[in-house]
Amino acid sequence: MLTNKRVLLIISGGIAAYKALELIRLIKKASGSVRCILTKGGAQFITPLSVSALAGEKVFDDLWSLTDEAEMGHIKLARDCDCVVVAPASADIIAKIAGGHASDLASTVLLATDRPVIVAPAMNPFMWTNKATAANIETLKSRGIKVVGPSAGEMACGEEGLGRLAELTDIMEAIGAAAR
Ligand SMILES: Cc1cc2nc3c(=O)[nH]c(=O)nc-3n(C[C@H](O)[C@H](O)[C@H](O)COP(=O)(O)O)c2cc1C
Repeated sequence: MLTNKRVLLIISGGIAAYKALELIRLIKKASGSVRCILTKGGAQFITPLSVSALAGEKVFDDLWSLTDEAEMGHIKLARDCDCVVVAPASADIIAKIAGGHASDLASTVLLATDRPVIVAPAMNPFMWTNKATAANIETLKSRGIKVVGPSAGEMACGEEGLGRLAELTDIMEAIGAAAR
């Protein structure tokens, strides 16, 4: 159960973004609250409207929002939660985290947070095994970021291998442990 626990869910750009909608539902069902950041890439796959309707909160997607940033929104988002979950985590956002980028709302929040961070990668198997991604993942792990998955199987692109988003039950388990 996630009673009184606040999850900040970052949804980045990949086919598996639609599974984040179900993750929102599971977090709420476990009595947690969930606030969402949708990256530019993520918004190509799912709409802010469905994310906010399920989360019951507005969706955050703009680092340069005059209204949100009047209260230093990115710092608030980074701190007003018990854990940060990136699901699905694209190769791009993983590289941004590893490189310490702060070039959009999601990467800025990830750099500014002092909360536990969980990353659930999902991508084409060749992207996953690319040495750049492998090195980035090692960097994340060495900094204490929990990496859940990916799992093996058939991908949306028709290829087989490692790269599917981890089972949502495994991501929920990691959230439960991190937000304790
Ligand atoms: C149809 C399509 C599917 C994609 N699927 C994935 C994916 O599953 N995982 C991934 O890491 N990138 C995927 N990409 C590439 C990312 O969307 C792209 O790198 C994007 O810049 C990531 O945005 P983000 O930084 O907001 O995550 C896909 C691109 C397209 C056009």
